[in-house]
Amino acid sequence: MTKLRLACVVGARPNFMKMAPILKAFEAHQGVETVLVHTGQHYDKNLSDVFFEELDMRRPDITLEVGSGKHGQQTARVIERFEEVLENATDDGRPFDRVLVVGDVNSTMATTIAAVKLGIPVAHVEAGLRSFDRTMPEEINRILTDAIADLLLVSDPAGMDNLRNEGHSEDEMVLVGNVMIDTLKQLLPQAQSRDTLARYGLTPGSYGLVTLHRPANVDTAESLGPLLDVLIETSKSLPLVFPIHPRTKQRIERFGFAKKLESAKGLLQLGPAGYLDFLALSSQSKVTVTDSGGLQEESTVLGIPCLTARPNTERPITVTEGTSTLVGNDANLLRNGLQAVLEGIYKTGKCPELWDGHAAKRIAKEIVEKADAS
Ligand code: UD1
Repeated sequence: MTKLRLACVVGARPNFMKMAPILKAFEAHQGVETVLVHTGQHYDKNLSDVFFEELDMRRPDITLEVGSGKHGQQTARVIERFEEVLENATDDGRPFDRVLVVGDVNSTMATTIAAVKLGIPVAHVEAGLRSFDRTMPEEINRILTDAIADLLLVSDPAGMDNLRNEGHSEDEMVLVGNVMIDTLKQLLPQAQSRDTLARYGLTPGSYGLVTLHRPANVDTAESLGPLLDVLIETSKSLPLVFPIHPRTKQRIERFGFAKKLESAKGLLQLGPAGYLDFLALSSQSKVTVTDSGGLQEESTVLGIPCLTARPNTERPITVTEGTSTLVGNDANLLRNGLQAVLEGIYKTGKCPELWDGHAAKRIAKEIVEKADAS
């Protein structure tokens, strides 16, 4: 029997948590061969390797080593190198039947373009999310990927509506739920049994967790400075843990903010955290402050209040059903939100439907059925 040959693509940190359960789910399908391709968009140990170890994910079969660069450079390198991988596979008589991409990073969009131009169909996990903010690079990646992928696997009902509004037909899209939550549910007990909090002198429910890395928040001194000032002020009454993304670290140094952060005793600066330490920190925090899409979703499932430092979100269900409140890039709104949480005023939220830990199985089933039908 010829196996269905799937190229499964990862590139940057948030992709790994989504792909790990999908690869495992395919193990139950004997007629499927998965080939894991890592574009190398993220390459540091703490942004890449650590996830393979902690998520018990097999090492990539193919690496493209594209590294960092401007959008055009990085995207072009991924297209060029992935196209070669796909063509070589065909020349060797082992063509790929389908490409599977997740999320909204440059690697997601670039590998989709390379595949579709060679006539290889693409399934997109996390399709349909829209912030309607085209200044976000991820929004462009989402729109382009969904426009040309042929199987759109969607995490929430708003995503289905967005795809309908863009003219996609019902047979292209399936509501499968949120696959990142599969990883969270599987690893939460392990994360909470670690010594992470003790290592940093923290106790459950008595600190806040902060992540900031969106260009709109960190790329100018005018946007980053006032947010940091509120965090420094808040850290006097609530200890804050701040795992700092490389982009943000570079900007903090460039804008001369490093000194004032270092002198804030209640603000604990860390490097990018691995998955388990991060989940240990997020699941036991009093509040999260973030501009990450993934953390908005994780906070919702964990029931932790989340102040989202963005004017909009492609994940509105985290606001309407979950624990997230949008505070924009507005230092006053952030200050008020943190003050309210300290006074015990916050959303409790509920877990959205199909964010149940079983999305990967549904994704694998859809892909296999689509192949059987064609
Ligand atoms: C990328 C994604 C973003 C995602 C984020 C998660 C795009 C457009 N953006 O943003 O959606 O939320 O990853 O982290 O795809 N760097 C390192 N080590 C690395 C990788 C990057 O130090 O392993 C530094 C580089 O100096 C680079 C900067 O971080 O210039 C930004 O990296 P890049 O991948 O361009 O974008 P992110 O901000 O990480």
